[in-house]
Amino acid sequence: MSSPRETPNDPEVSEAQIAVHWKEEPRIDPPAEFVAQANVADVAVRGRFAIGRFPECFREYAELLDWATPWHTTLDTERAPFYRWFVGGTLNAAYNCVDRHLARHASKPAFIWVPEPEGEPSRVLTYRDLYEHVNAFAALLRDRAGVNAGDRVTIHLPMVPELPISMLACARLGAIHSVVFGGFSGDACGVRIADSGSRVLVTMDGSYRNGKWLDHRGTADVAVAAARREGQEVDHRLFWRRHPERPGAVAPPAAGRDLDVNAELRRRRGSLVPPVPMPAEAPLFLMYTSGTTGRPKGCQHSTGGYLAYAVGTSRIYQDLHPEDIYWCLADIGWITGHSYIVYGPLALATTSVLYEGVPTFPDPARTWRIAAKLGVTTLHTSPTTIRLLRKADPDGPRRFDLRFKHLTTVGEPIEPEVWRWYYETVGRKRAVIVDTWWQTETGGVLCSTIPGLDPMKPGSTGPAALGIFPSIVDDEGVEVPAGSGRAGNLCIRNPWPGMFQTIWGDPERFLATYFRKYNRAPHSRDWRDWPYFAGDGATQSADGYFRVLGRVDDVINVAGHRLGTKEIESACLSVPDVAEAAVVPVHDELKGRRPEVYLALKPGSADPGAVVLAVARAIENQIGKIARPRAIRVVPDMPKTRSGKIMRRVLSALSNAQDVGDITTLANPEAVAAIQAMIDVRGRASPARVPDPAGPSDTNQ
Ligand code: WTA
Repeated sequence: MSSPRETPNDPEVSEAQIAVHWKEEPRIDPPAEFVAQANVADVAVRGRFAIGRFPECFREYAELLDWATPWHTTLDTERAPFYRWFVGGTLNAAYNCVDRHLARHASKPAFIWVPEPEGEPSRVLTYRDLYEHVNAFAALLRDRAGVNAGDRVTIHLPMVPELPISMLACARLGAIHSVVFGGFSGDACGVRIADSGSRVLVTMDGSYRNGKWLDHRGTADVAVAAARREGQEVDHRLFWRRHPERPGAVAPPAAGRDLDVNAELRRRRGSLVPPVPMPAEAPLFLMYTSGTTGRPKGCQHSTGGYLAYAVGTSRIYQDLHPEDIYWCLADIGWITGHSYIVYGPLALATTSVLYEGVPTFPDPARTWRIAAKLGVTTLHTSPTTIRLLRKADPDGPRRFDLRFKHLTTVGEPIEPEVWRWYYETVGRKRAVIVDTWWQTETGGVLCSTIPGLDPMKPGSTGPAALGIFPSIVDDEGVEVPAGSGRAGNLCIRNPWPGMFQTIWGDPERFLATYFRKYNRAPHSRDWRDWPYFAGDGATQSADGYFRVLGRVDDVINVAGHRLGTKEIESACLSVPDVAEAAVVPVHDELKGRRPEVYLALKPGSADPGAVVLAVARAIENQIGKIARPRAIRVVPDMPKTRSGKIMRRVLSALSNAQDVGDITTLANPEAVAAIQAMIDVRGRASPARVPDPAGPSDTNQ
């Protein structure tokens, strides 16, 4: 077991007194047209999920599934916080996502797959097609790779239908899949293969991204070598073909442990594999996520509890209906794709768009072209993507016949400016927006408005999800009251079915990272003694809405006042020429820390010097002198992860003249050198020492 280095006792994250300056936004009612068709528009639902009904309230989610054996105990807390949900029940996840829809939805599309090259036609997979592919691939896994229930299978695939097919084939066998985001390097994949103890790797010959052919075969070679270095042998590699109709197009995989999946499947057409009923608490998958330090954590999710939570929240918060065309732009390699592309929507027999490539390829209008052509009603994406699309072509959505009725934002706090663009320009004020807060660990949404019931509030995620009882607490565990204007650590007081079961192979890290800080009695079997520490700073308004400020380590302590980086970024984004903003803490001799600001401007923007001045003024006006940045730098390009998140860690290292560390996994490592060149050797601001727009510096601490 590794040492619990992630205990949240680090002084950096322990102060929860954060000044919150992001002003309250007015609430906006959901459009009447949306409410009229919503799955949930009756406030009685809140009564059904009141604390007095916990944990039995979650039967309502589990009853959306077909069980092979009914459960006898809804929640078993015997080994708290290693909870067991729906104990005694058995079910199969693939059966629930595919087989059970054949009676009524066999010819309904499950996926409409859009390849990145625009000349290539879309591919429609009906529920019957999905059934056939999942069965055939499950047969291959079982018969050629020896996969059994409980085995781990690592899947490293791009956004192609073969990815959900591979996952569901594992689930059909009761095997545990571990999907590694396709954009991760071979080394990163190898580390995860080794940690999970996978003997089987499912991959593809290649795929298209941003107009380029990506060689996944080469990556698979690196992954296997990396896993071996960690002591894990991969016995079988299964290669799907990106162009199955062109078998000779790429070199066949090496003989021996490698299998050419498409060739094998041609021989196995029509194979049927009975779905294996699994105990509700059997692991369905592992999803690796980054911790504060050290090795990635394999979050282990259960079959029954997870699936129940994914389907229940998809119905309520995504408001999915059988006739909807739903498009979630997340990659299936992240938790959002698992819960809200694969398991939740398929369990509801939804039709989903699956897109291979980047949203702005070959031009910024690609996303809107796809949405208009396929009649997408329900769009689900992240603030990063929304900002990207807004930056690339602010009026783009206006040129298309878009008919969204429901829009989701997830993954980061969204600045009210960006929210309003999503609402007004993308949704034309006809679509409802849900800002859903949750995490890899939580399996599904924990805070959100119910779209047909609650008003929206730009920049706030909304109230707690049904059956979820959060609280904001300071470091001593004292609750920070709603409406106090103070922030603290966001905790969840109760367990819920979608919650991860443990960290694979490291239960001590599970306890240390998420529970030890606020545990009241180490041997207690009462869930009330085990609040879940989410690692996010948040505040709650008097109306009960939560505003998530970001990871607790993203908070900057300026002269004893803590400022959410997102608040400063939001102020920056209120300046019309600013497309993206990232704020990082810089050591400061007098004030401990000060923020530094990095900006990317919209194309054709005004003089950068004028923008810098406007940003400085905006921060001062909207937050106060306390937040005045030490420097504001206009950069050509923000360093980003392959999933599109701005790497504030790298910017922070640059600002603090520290080693930037390993940047090889970034989408654009060259951006780092460009920024470095703007900063002088001492790491101080070169041309952009912040001009003081309003007289002498603050002294208000
Ligand atoms: C952040 C993604 C503000 C938060 C589903 C959390 C958010 C982390 C929101 C989890 C939101 C997620 N508003 N912040 N609506 N949603 N976050 O594990 O800091 O990739 O802890 O799960 O993203 O990221 P993860």
